[in-house]
Amino acid sequence: MPLGMNLVTEEFLSAVRALPKAELHLHIEGTLEPAMLMRLAAKHSVSLPYQSEAEVHAAYDFSDLQSFLDIYYLGAGVLIDEQDFYDLMFAYLSRCRDEGIVHSEIMFDPQTHTDRGISFGTVMDGFLRAMASAQREWGQSSALIMSFLRHLDEDRAFQTLKQAEPYRDHIQSVGLDSSELGHPPEKFAGVYAEARSQGYRPVAHAGEEGPPEYIWGALNTLEVERIDHGVRCLEDDALVQHLVEHQIPLTVCPLSNVRLCVFPEMLQHPLLDMLDRGLNVTVNSDDPPYFGGYLMDNFESLHENLSLDLDQAKRLAVNSINSSFLSSDIKEGWLTQLSSP
Ligand code: ADE
Ligand code: ZN
Repeated sequence: MPLGMNLVTEEFLSAVRALPKAELHLHIEGTLEPAMLMRLAAKHSVSLPYQSEAEVHAAYDFSDLQSFLDIYYLGAGVLIDEQDFYDLMFAYLSRCRDEGIVHSEIMFDPQTHTDRGISFGTVMDGFLRAMASAQREWGQSSALIMSFLRHLDEDRAFQTLKQAEPYRDHIQSVGLDSSELGHPPEKFAGVYAEARSQGYRPVAHAGEEGPPEYIWGALNTLEVERIDHGVRCLEDDALVQHLVEHQIPLTVCPLSNVRLCVFPEMLQHPLLDMLDRGLNVTVNSDDPPYFGGYLMDNFESLHENLSLDLDQAKRLAVNSINSSFLSSDIKEGWLTQLSSP
């Protein structure tokens, strides 16, 4: 069937699943499934305010970013030993294999763990072992983005950068996440300058809940190569023009935006308008079990609500490969597959 025709959902989804895709905005701590949360809580005798998986699901009813973060940090408290970090990462990478995500650039929040007395090495060793297993077992490609928590001060981010030194070769990028409002990018100008000088590729969350000025700040002060979310750029025409002209990638997370009330419903999500305006947008899942789905669930919701078609899905897949930090040779290989009929 030619591209662009209205495929039935099942056919559409299997066609999208078969497209080689990169996921560029995914918090590994945000992949903690309720079943794993309950299992690890029992394993480590961590008490949770939930008695069952159903109660966990019921708690995932968010009014804004902070209401989600409170529950996300609580959940991360069950991750304690190296095997937990391995299991978390391996489960997500297995999902990548099933969804045609050929490469993933994965955020992790070291401060969420080191502040609880878990060593940086425990976290890294579990993640790296899982990434190596997935690479060996089915050729899964992945990389790490070390994200600083923006509600903490810049000194703490500097300490984290220092702790990462022994793992420098295993961490590709630095990022900025957590509570956006009141914590503008400029607060982290120094640590980003230092990270860039050490060769980290800089990205940052901006324009999720924060205003367009935060996107300008991330570009001009932190000198980021990608913006995570960035949906509020639409409030500033000059910014949209700049993002289009420089083809700066925006890692958009549609289900997340709806669940965190950035947009009231998927029907109001501007992803397709952004694509039409020439913005370099990609689709991503952010924190899948918290927001109702993984990458393919995002594509499904866009198809059902906004009539996303296969041509548009292909453009999004091409953007995801192009916007990754893969080498140009590897990108070319995936892009060739994407351009074949
Ligand atoms: N940490 C995990 N998910 C996040 C999001 N969507 N925004 C900011 N920080 C996060
Ligand atoms: Zn995010």
